[in-house]
Order: sequence, then structure tokens, then C-alpha cells
Amino acid sequence: MGNIVETKNTPIPYNIVRDKINELNLTNKVGKATIREIVRLINEIEKASGKKFVRMEMGVPGLDPVKIGIDAEIAALKRGVASKYPMIDGIPELKHEMARFIKNFINIDVDEQGCIPSVGSMQGGMAAFLITNRCFKQKDTVLFIDPGFPVQKQQLKVLGMNYETFDVYNYRGDKLREKLESYLKKGNISTILYSNPNNPSWICFTEKELQTIGELATKYEITVVEDLAYFAMDFRKDLSKPGEPPYQPSVANYTDNWLMLVSSSKIFSYAGQRIGCIVISNKLYKKRFPDLKRYFNSDEFGYAMLYGAIYALSSGVCHSTQFGLAAILKAVNDGEFNFVENIKEYGEKAKIMKKLFTNNGFKIVYDKDEDKPLADGFYFTISYPGLSGEELIEELLYYGISAISLAITGSEHVEGLRACVSQVLRNQFDDLEYRLKQFNEHHPIK
Ligand SMILES: Cc1ncc(COP(=O)(O)O)c(C=O)c1O
Repeated sequence: MGNIVETKNTPIPYNIVRDKINELNLTNKVGKATIREIVRLINEIEKASGKKFVRMEMGVPGLDPVKIGIDAEIAALKRGVASKYPMIDGIPELKHEMARFIKNFINIDVDEQGCIPSVGSMQGGMAAFLITNRCFKQKDTVLFIDPGFPVQKQQLKVLGMNYETFDVYNYRGDKLREKLESYLKKGNISTILYSNPNNPSWICFTEKELQTIGELATKYEITVVEDLAYFAMDFRKDLSKPGEPPYQPSVANYTDNWLMLVSSSKIFSYAGQRIGCIVISNKLYKKRFPDLKRYFNSDEFGYAMLYGAIYALSSGVCHSTQFGLAAILKAVNDGEFNFVENIKEYGEKAKIMKKLFTNNGFKIVYDKDEDKPLADGFYFTISYPGLSGEELIEELLYYGISAISLAITGSEHVEGLRACVSQVLRNQFDDLEYRLKQFNEHHPIK
């Protein structure tokens, strides 16, 4: 494939891209590189070529952090909180506002006790695995409804824990039940994890699908870890009004066995502060699992989470940052700050960018929620007829466009790539269109 572009005049000179791929030991494996490896490669190519890429490889927020949070953090620091260890279960203000947030935007009642700050959803996931995978001796495996966020699998590898996975693409709607049950009835699954909206495909589960997951979680005594990193970002519905329907869909409407991971990174552009919350259902928090005693002093789920997992991982979360998130949530809950309005820009950009790709021969890989067209949001997925995913990711580099391969996300659609809209500026759209046109001309579709 390299031969095609070698003879063409591409936006980024052939030799520069080739040399950098070789220098970084990515020869013949760009398609399998991790997100951070791709970031490094593009940085190097940009430096050497002096050309700016249309960067779509990493899910970094492209907006300013919410100021309410920054101001509250500064005020907390000035009050001297930096010298004090925060309580492991979090400051009362944050617990209070997170419980209100869950009520206001999901319409689910949860006690403040069950709202526990975590160092991003990343740590929330790790803490969840430490507990959910140990509630029953015989249930030691996490089931991912994929495609998904690759680092969560890495966490399990680091913990020496097992996981299984399937790509949900062919199992939407009514087909989901049988597929899930084929895993659950084996008796080794402790946890089901998915993100909704989904990273990388941006599929959103329907109520029917969430009901299926919930019912099966109850039937097989399994904990559902619902990763809400993109909370309320299905922009097809207005999920922005506190206390008013429609609400962010959740499995919590269909089972008591749920634990949510709420991240501040994307919804409040707060990724740098590394704060999120684990939210545990009232029933699950209090539930006792005698097998937990193998690892923790208590067999109560919530107690083990706090004084076993969170204590051991980081002994709580940065004190001032908790005040920052509490202040943001308060403004959101009080109806003073419409956080969804603030991030809608991602969906609007996605709509335009998807069109630029499809006008130039690309296909959208994950394109439906059952019978409904997919929402426009933070990510979308693309493929190009006649090219494998590995070829596509590398070929696009010569045109100054970067993405990551779906192959690393548990997707069976290995011909596809994930494109993230957040870092692409509107003033790059003309450039993107020009580059895609050129790509299309150089790669005629048969
Ligand atoms: C699905 C999913 N879960 C979790 C995270 C991590 O969130 P946090 O920054 O809160 O650790 C991300 C970030 O991209 C994500 O996409």
C-alpha cells in the first residue's frame, strides 16, 4: 500500500512519515499501536514536517475547563485544605451534590453514602474490579460489552484478573439477551461493563437493551459497572434539564446490582484534575458477600470499597479538586449552569465531519442504535472500502489525518478506525475536506 502514496504528492511528505514510523519502531505495526504511541508519532511527524495534523486519535476535551470548578479549587487551596488528608469517602459537599446530580439527571435515588470520589473514572474502574470480581469465589471474570476503552482491559491484566468480551454490533435489541446469557450461564462472570454513550463507537443502548442487561444482572447476581464518561452526551434528546425528563438512560432502572462511574473529564472538561465519582446503588452498598472476607476486613460491598479498595489505591482524592467538582455540580443541580449546552459543540462538529468523510468514499462503521441513526457526539467510526484498518490508519498519516484502530477496542470491525472530534478546530474543516478529497482521488474505490 505504501507504494501508492510513495509516488504521489501527499500533504505530508512520504519520507518524513516513513522515517518517523521506522524511528519509533512502529514499522508494520502502526495499526496496532496504542493511543499514546500514536500521539507520540504524530507529534514527531508534525515537528519534522512543520505541518499540522487533523488530530483525531485521542479523547482529550477540546474545551476550556468549567471556571466554577477552578475558582472553587483556588478558594479551597487558599483556605488551607492542601495540608489536610481528605476523608476517604469524600467531602460531604461533593457527596451531597453527586447524589442530587444522579436524582436530577437519571431520576434515581441514591444515598450520599454511596457517592464516593475517585481519581477519575480510571481509578473508579480499578476500585470496582477489586470488589466486584471478588464477591463470589467462583465468579472471577469481567465481561465487557465491546467495543470499549482499552485501558480497562489493561487494568485487569495488571490486577491478574480475567475478562471476556464480545462485540455488540451483531447483538443489538432482542439478540442481546441470548448472547449475554451464553456468557452468564457459565457461572464465572462477576461483572458486566460497558460505556453508554460508547467509546469508541458512540452507540447508545436502548431502554430495551438496558432492561435486558438489568434483568440478567439480577438473575445471575452480577454487578453492572455502567461507565458514564459521556453522561448526557446523546444529543438526540435534551438531557440537560435538572429534575425533568428525559433522563440519561441507565441500567439502574432495571436492577439493584449497579455501580456507576461518573467522570468529570469530558462533561466538565476537567480531565486534568483527575476526579470522578463511583456511585453505588443503596442495595448493593449494604449487601454482604462472605467471599469478600478473603481480601477485606468486611464483607459489606460499600465498606470493602472504601476501606479496602479506595484506601489501598490512593487514600482518597485530592482535597481541593473535590471542592471544585462539588461547586460545578451544585451550579448544575441548581439550574445555574447548563453543562450539556456547553459540550453540544462536539455533536455539531461530528455531524459536519462525518459528512466530509462519507462524501469522500468513507463508510461509518457503527451507524445505528437498533433502527435509529446513531447520535453525533465525541467519537465516530470510519472505514474505507478495500483497505484494512491497519492500512487505513497508516495511509491517512500521509494526508495529515490521525485516528486509532478499532482493532484495539475489542471490535470485530478491524477494518475500522475511531475518530475523535474534540481536538479538531472548525478552522481545520477546509483542510480536512481537501485532504480527504486527495485521499479519495489517490485511492479509487473499485
Ligand atoms: C469510556 C471511558 N471510561 C473512562 C474514561 C476515563 O475517564 P477519567 O478521565 O474520568 O478517568 C474514559 C476517557 O476517555 C472513557 O472514554
